[in-house]
Amino acid sequence: MSASLEIESRPAAFGAAPPTGDMPLRVIAPGRGSDAAEALARAEPLYARVKHVIPPIEWPVFAPDVAAILRLKRERDAVILAHNYQTPEIFHCVADITGDSLALAREAMTVDAKVIVLAGVHFMAETAKLLNPEKTVLIPDLRAGCSLAESITPEDVRLMRARYPDAPVVAYVNTSVAVKAESDICCTSANAKRVIESLGARRVIMLPDEYLAQNVAKQTKVEVIAWAGHCEVHQRFSGAEVRSLRESHPGVIVLAHPECPPEVLAEADFAGSTADMAAYVGREHPRRVVLMTECSMADNVAVAHPSVEFVRPCNLCPHMKRITLPNIRAALEGMCHEVTIDPALADRARRAVERMLAVR
Ligand code: 13P
Ligand code: SF4
Repeated sequence: MSASLEIESRPAAFGAAPPTGDMPLRVIAPGRGSDAAEALARAEPLYARVKHVIPPIEWPVFAPDVAAILRLKRERDAVILAHNYQTPEIFHCVADITGDSLALAREAMTVDAKVIVLAGVHFMAETAKLLNPEKTVLIPDLRAGCSLAESITPEDVRLMRARYPDAPVVAYVNTSVAVKAESDICCTSANAKRVIESLGARRVIMLPDEYLAQNVAKQTKVEVIAWAGHCEVHQRFSGAEVRSLRESHPGVIVLAHPECPPEVLAEADFAGSTADMAAYVGREHPRRVVLMTECSMADNVAVAHPSVEFVRPCNLCPHMKRITLPNIRAALEGMCHEVTIDPALADRARRAVERMLAVR
C-alpha cells in the first residue's frame, strides 16, 4: 500500500449520503483524489445489478475494490472466470465469464487474454491452466480447496483400476491434476450420465463423489463403482430437511445439486448442476423455490429473477468463500498466486478433460 492515504466518504455517485452516524468509512490508497472518485463512479452503475441482494450501506465497502479490479483487468489483459458459488459482488460486478464447472472449463478455452483469474476453487483453476498452458492463471487464494478433491489420491485410483481392470475411470472434475492424470475421462454434474454412456462399457469407476455416483447410477444401465468421497457442503442436506421446508413453505419447488445424498434428490422436484438449477428458475419461474446447494447460488440467481421468492436453507462452502474482492485485487496487483501444473502430469490430465469436452 502507498504511504499516501485518503479517507473515503460515500462519493456523490452513490446517491444521497446516509446520516452522519451511519457514514461508512474506509481507508483507500492511493490518494489521487479525482482519479479515485472517477474510478468509483465507474463502478457505480454495477450496483444496479446487485441492489436486490446487497444493501446500499454495504456497497461503498465493495465499490473501491470493484473499481480497482476493473482497472487492473484492463492493465493486465486479464479476464475473471467466476463459479456460481461466488458472492454477488464478484459474480455480477467483476466477473467476465460465469457458470458451473463445465461452462468454466469450456469457456476457459475461448479466453482471449494473457491472464485468467479463477474466482472459484483450486481444481477449477487447474482445469483452466490445463486448457491454457501458455496463459497465466491466478487463483486469489491458493488454499481454496475442495473436500471431494481432497478425498482421493492417484494411488487410490491405481488401486481401483487394479481391482476392476475392465472398468474405465471417470473422474469428477472436482479432483487434482494428479488424479485426473490417472483417469480415462472427466465429468461434471452436468454431463456425468452422458460421459458414462459415451464409453460403451458395461461398468465404470466413477470417483470420488459417492452421492453423485449413486444419483447417476439411478439414471443409467451402466454399472457404477463409486468411491466414498463427499462434498462437505452438500452432504449436510437431508430428506427430513426437504420435508420440513415443504411444510414451512407451502408450494416451494425444491431444486437439489446431485452432490446431495440420494434421499435429498428423492424428495426434490429437480436435480441438476448449478447451471441446470439456474436454468430451471429461468425457464419455469417458480413462485417460491429453494436451492439445496451453496448459499451464494440463490443470491446470484435471485439477481436475475427478483419476482421469485428464494427460501434459503443454504450451506456455505468455506473454500469458495476464501475468494474475495480484496484478494482478487491483490492477485492482479501483484500477479501472484499463479497456478502451475506438474509437466509430468499435464498431458495425461489434459487428455481426460478434453475427452470430456468432446462429449456432447
Ligand atoms: P457444478 O459443476 O454444478 O457447478 O458444481 C461444482 C461444485 O463444486 C458443486 O459443489
Ligand atoms: Fe468442493 Fe463441495 Fe465446495 Fe463444491 S461445494 S467446491 S464440491 S467442497
